[in-house]
Amino acid sequence: MVNTKVTLSGLRLDNPVIPASGTFGFGYEFAELYDINILGSFSFKGTTAAPRFGNPTPRIAECTGGMINSVGLQNPGIDAVIAHELPKLKACFHKPVIANISGFSLEEYVHCCEKIDREEQVGLIEVNVSCPNVHNGGMAFGTCPESAAEVTRAVKAVTKKPVYIKLSPNVTDIAEIARACEEAGADGISLINTLLGMRIDLKTRKPVIANKMGGFSGSAIFPVALRMVYQVYEAVRIPIIGMGGVSAAEDVVEMMLAGATAVQIGAANLINPYASKEIIEQLPRVMERMGIKNLEEIIGGAH
Ligand code: FUM
Repeated sequence: MVNTKVTLSGLRLDNPVIPASGTFGFGYEFAELYDINILGSFSFKGTTAAPRFGNPTPRIAECTGGMINSVGLQNPGIDAVIAHELPKLKACFHKPVIANISGFSLEEYVHCCEKIDREEQVGLIEVNVSCPNVHNGGMAFGTCPESAAEVTRAVKAVTKKPVYIKLSPNVTDIAEIARACEEAGADGISLINTLLGMRIDLKTRKPVIANKMGGFSGSAIFPVALRMVYQVYEAVRIPIIGMGGVSAAEDVVEMMLAGATAVQIGAANLINPYASKEIIEQLPRVMERMGIKNLEEIIGGAH
């Protein structure tokens, strides 16, 4: 019998598998397909202060080994999430959830974190400073160490819950930004968000996506994500949630060897809504095959 449990900032998870924000709605949608209580946790859709309709369509482009999205942080807004989405989730998910918070100003991040701090089921706040699909917000905060640190300090001042900063790969030195967040008080780092990409339609000779560019995700980005998790592990002492192109239990093990304590599954959920469930089911078999008794012991094992 292998042990798949991991601990993230005091939260004991049955396993390290966490569906990523934007690929799992508010959870209850997937509860119609399977018992989502098998998950380690999950990160709900990036939430802003006001409701957002999101970007014009088309928002999706297919690519070899992945896809590009430019959803534009479509969400019902923090008040509706608290009033309507979280109660529906509570009825079917009995574990702490990860709240993914986005913003267009420091004040907006603070406002959302202050509100979500009061929600009992929220075990951890993931602050998204890396959305590539909005102007004057999102990634703008996460591509420079000073502004990432400023957001970290501001949200830490209004919540007692663990704060993980979700970083963008669209930077030269992700380790420097992770270090700045750690120094500003972050409890952990989530990485990576999507890589900025685009497709051009050969018939129209115009960008496929209305917003021209979007975030590339899927199995093709796994080696990039793994490299960045490896680099950040060497730069900080706080835990890392690794993500980017993870689509099998073997990828989870590889991410943990690079330094991740937990691992998020993103685009794979969009290809196969059972992907996270299947990965959780595969994990003990992969561990047995590899002679791993206790998953927690392999974190950072590649260093
Ligand atoms: O456009 C979006 O909603 C994507 C968000 C993200 O990648 O953080």
